[in-house]
Amino acid sequence: MSVSESLIDVVPVSDDPGDARWQAVAPGGFVAGVIGLRPTTPFGSDPLPPTTPGDLELSLYVEPGWRRRGIGSRLLAAARNAATRNEARLIADVEAGSPAEAFCRRHGFRRIGSRRHDLLTYCDVHLAWLGELVDAEHPGYRLTHWVGDLPDARGVEELPRSPSRSGNAVLTAADADGDLAAYAVAVVDPVSHPRARQYGPAVHPDHRGGRLGLWVNAALAQRLREVHPHVDEIETTTAEDDLGLLDVREHLGFRPLRRTHVYELAIHGRRT
Ligand SMILES: CC(C)(COP(=O)(O)OP(=O)(O)OC[C@H]1O[C@@H](n2cnc3c(N)ncnc32)[C@H](O)[C@@H]1OP(=O)(O)O)[C@@H](O)C(=O)NCCC(=O)NCCS
Repeated sequence: MSVSESLIDVVPVSDDPGDARWQAVAPGGFVAGVIGLRPTTPFGSDPLPPTTPGDLELSLYVEPGWRRRGIGSRLLAAARNAATRNEARLIADVEAGSPAEAFCRRHGFRRIGSRRHDLLTYCDVHLAWLGELVDAEHPGYRLTHWVGDLPDARGVEELPRSPSRSGNAVLTAADADGDLAAYAVAVVDPVSHPRARQYGPAVHPDHRGGRLGLWVNAALAQRLREVHPHVDEIETTTAEDDLGLLDVREHLGFRPLRRTHVYELAIHGRRT
């Protein structure tokens, strides 16, 4: 590459606090890299450990031909500089064993966990068996479904009480006398992408031990296919130490796809 990296400009393309982004632009307007920061949400990315206000999910990409020239570092500096207006924590989820791990360590990030990404393919699932799981008796509990667009992820537990309409999310819940005991959500791509993303299942601590997670997950997989027949597969993300959740995944036939490591960088707010 003949163009010196000093000719690269790092420019903001969005200063929306919900979706801040910067680009590294080479002469001629070629975009050599991009970085984004957005608030993490419990259902947005299943962060580890549980998300707190001020957590920002970092996404960073540098074009292969432009790597090891300091561009990733310059983009990170721009994002860090913006984040220092407040106390914040940057969270990066990177492929295990990738160069991004060295990059994170070089910039003072600390590894805080590992995640497994799994895939369930409908053609590997025996639908009659799935139906038996869904039909199994769970005395005292009732399954409900909700369909709509996922609004503010923090209000997801309220969704089963609101009316269903058409939308990109399907939520399945088990309730006991009107109390939400367990639920799982799947979000589909509106432009008929065949892979849905699933969050959960989450089981309320008062209702654990009754395999409600497996039940709502099986029912979600069944309902998802009815509502969005173009979906062929479901992707999930799980903390590697969440053995209970991994057990549910394996029981249903999810297969490991890839592993990522989660890094954090604490940012201490500037005093003004
Ligand atoms: C990770 C990534 C953004 C790094 O971008 P970059 O522009 O190459 O990074 P820099 O040139 O600023 O590298 C800074 C330091 O990180 C470390 N580093 C970066 N890439 C490395 C590699 N392939 N091997 C070892 N160390 C590496 C080095 O310490 C490097 O400093 P040095 O070149 O002086 O030794 C880039 O490889 C990429 O886009 N990867 C794919 C997307 C991705 O994984 N994103 C997640 C990022 S959090």
